Amino acid sequence: MTQTPDAPSSPSAPEAAAGPARPAGPGDPTSGAQDSQPLAERVSNRSHRPSSRAFRDFIGSGWGPRPQGLPPRAESAPWAAARREALGALFPGERLVIPAGPLRVRNNDCDYRFRPHSAFAHLTGTGTDFEPDAVLVLEPLSPAPPAGQEAPEAQDAPQAAGGRPTHEAVLYFRPRASRSSEEFYADSRYGELWVGVRPSIEEVEAATGVRCAPIDSLPDALAKDAGAGAVRLRVVAEADEAIASLVMDTRRAAGLALGREAVELDTRLAEAASELRLRKDPWEVGQLQAAVDATKAGFEDLIRSIPRARGHWRGERVLEGAFAAVARQEGNGLGYDTIAAAGDHANTLHWISNDGPVEPGQLVLVDAGVEVDSLYTADVTRTIPVDGRFTEVQRRVYQAVLDAADAAFARAGEPGCRFKDVHAAAMEVIAARLEEWGLLPEGVSAADSLAPEGQYHRRWMVHGTSHHLGLDVHDCAQARREMYMDAALEPGMCFTIEPGLYFRADDLLVPADLRGMGVRIEDDIIVRPDGRVERLTQGIPRTVEEVEAWVSGLIA
Ligand code: GLY
Ligand code: MN
Ligand code: MN
Repeated sequence: MTQTPDAPSSPSAPEAAAGPARPAGPGDPTSGAQDSQPLAERVSNRSHRPSSRAFRDFIGSGWGPRPQGLPPRAESAPWAAARREALGALFPGERLVIPAGPLRVRNNDCDYRFRPHSAFAHLTGTGTDFEPDAVLVLEPLSPAPPAGQEAPEAQDAPQAAGGRPTHEAVLYFRPRASRSSEEFYADSRYGELWVGVRPSIEEVEAATGVRCAPIDSLPDALAKDAGAGAVRLRVVAEADEAIASLVMDTRRAAGLALGREAVELDTRLAEAASELRLRKDPWEVGQLQAAVDATKAGFEDLIRSIPRARGHWRGERVLEGAFAAVARQEGNGLGYDTIAAAGDHANTLHWISNDGPVEPGQLVLVDAGVEVDSLYTADVTRTIPVDGRFTEVQRRVYQAVLDAADAAFARAGEPGCRFKDVHAAAMEVIAARLEEWGLLPEGVSAADSLAPEGQYHRRWMVHGTSHHLGLDVHDCAQARREMYMDAALEPGMCFTIEPGLYFRADDLLVPADLRGMGVRIEDDIIVRPDGRVERLTQGIPRTVEEVEAWVSGLIA
């Protein structure tokens, strides 16, 4: 971005609607002393915009008609409707508020690319950058049940609904402004000449199947019937502070519960929205497979870039960049920052500086995932010999990690396997291999190490083996332990298996030939409707022989 409108942007609708969440704007009598130009206004000191009435009339006229017709219904729409129904059934008679979140400042007047909160994306079926400041409200269709009657458990929700929807969804957002508005040409965050044309109410209704309303009607909608406790409100508070405050203000004005009780209400909503994502529907599984397929393409371009990386002083960045290009071309972008870690850098688990060289003879650990336009992401790690061949010691470590991954995968396929059992299976292999190599402390067997009071093997793999995967790379993060770690695997669950072994260059407890080598292999697993587990990443080479052939084939 190189330009800035040199006049105050009008306050955004949600600011006007939801209170002064963003910084006070120029012209605000509280925003600065009279004799000194407020800092917020100084952005206009570098250019001039005409402001005459004649100019406004001129720039607002002479444009062709808007395209006719409405967009087709999104493929995701019926799935999102079913998700809203399942969530609503947990909170009959309550108003549920799920914000998309605001634009976030990166620096000065530049925002990060917008990415909606995952609960919003899940419940609307929208993706990419739809839509800063939007808010989904599930409006109760019937009164709340009598006090003391508990909401049903998440897994019972559809039955509890009895097939009848409990809520009507309403999507509040800032529809596009007319070309005669100041916003059209003067607002660098929202204006059509700055960020492109935004959709109309009718267009979003057509695409989502959800009734839509302008964002400035949100405060009244939240307050409706809230007095005397007739309608309880809950909000996914972390998604948008301004909307969370608006809900708090509404509760206060209506005499509803505040303080810890309100936090508890909101926590239950965030938890339920998170747990609703534990089992993916078939459409989501298709999106995850698409994310994995794009990620495979990204790894292939990354491998093709290895010769260039080896000649570059920051070869890791060359690898990172090759993957990132595919992520933007084929998807919405990266699901998380790429780790491209050559040699000892692989032993820094979140190595995202990627500012080191790529040297002959090294392994490079690449952990990367494409997020597709629907915002589902893959999460894949491959550890790649930059010469196309593993050395003998590299092969030994790689094979140990692969065996741990295979054991975890086999355990996942056993009936009744719990999420945490997958990790346990991987650890049995890791501990056994470390015992075999004489790395466990004197007198400690693999079995001793696996006992809760031991765990010595974890020195060389301090992270977990698995996490749920979906819209967030670490999906369902607000789910309760009994629904996540302690729960049995079920159809629709998507999770990673990602064991590793990390031998730091300064680790005096391992032989010199292991030092400076880190290996992780990460696959994305789906539980099919019949209970079979499969790797969505099956098509991405992972055995020693497959990886060698893959690399050699791409950089020959
Ligand atoms: N890339 C983050 C993870 O593997 O969990
Ligand atoms: Mn992962
Ligand atoms: Mn990963």
